[in-house]
Amino acid sequence: MKVPILRVATLLLVCGGAMASHGCAQEPLDGEASMDLISLPDPQLSGEMPLEEAIHGRRSIRSFRPDALDLRQVSQFLWAAQGITDPEGLRSAPSAGATYPLEVYLVASAVEELDSGVYRYDPTAHGLLPVGPGDRSEEVAEAALDQRWIADAPLILVLAADMGRTTGRYGERGRRYVYMEMGHAAQNVYLQAEALGLGTTLVGAFRDGDLAEALGLPSKEEPLGILPVGVPSP
Ligand SMILES: Cc1cc2nc3c(=O)[nH]c(=O)nc-3n(C[C@H](O)[C@H](O)[C@H](O)COP(=O)(O)O)c2cc1C
Repeated sequence: MKVPILRVATLLLVCGGAMASHGCAQEPLDGEASMDLISLPDPQLSGEMPLEEAIHGRRSIRSFRPDALDLRQVSQFLWAAQGITDPEGLRSAPSAGATYPLEVYLVASAVEELDSGVYRYDPTAHGLLPVGPGDRSEEVAEAALDQRWIADAPLILVLAADMGRTTGRYGERGRRYVYMEMGHAAQNVYLQAEALGLGTTLVGAFRDGDLAEALGLPSKEEPLGILPVGVPSP
């Protein structure tokens, strides 16, 4: 790793304190007593572009320049998707009953100061947890019915869900709530991209099993959406 790594007690980070009142959204992966957390820069809470301009300018972008992104931009996208925005642990996107079923994965292929690989976002620590090494963007594009442009993006966000967190409280209707929540998180990513002069597209056409395998998702999580991000190519 090229960036400082903190050894953290994951259980304390993800399930302690006020978060418990909103459910333990992120459980530790099997067999992990501690993990290597890559701290992200603090997100910026103000920007140059008014919200109305971002809504007006937002478009789906499928053509990217080869420029790398940096950790500051990564931080901003992950915060927009699922960042903690409240002392009680509430997040940037609404969640039915604050059950927080979503997990955000980062497939990095050209991010300064970050080795190519798959990472999982830890909202509580605002950091990245390594899942697997190596550039997986080609596999993601293949899983997405061969939408080749996806592999050109320097980074790809994948929104996945542990449905049980929400169906455990709301029964089968909880699945509907999770899909709604994914849409909220995805729109946040779109608007954040617009505000930063970057581009993205929500991709819903993919083979679930192939994408889960490309990312190494735990069996209880299912992928719901892919958001390739990059500098728009004119
Ligand atoms: C649920 C959903 C799934 C989508 N899946 C794909 C996809 O697989 N590939 C793609 O290129 N665009 C996909 N899109 C983007 C739409 O094509 C796009 O939003 C639409 O053409 C309108 O353009 P705009 O986003 O620029 O307004 C998807 C959008 C949504 C909301």
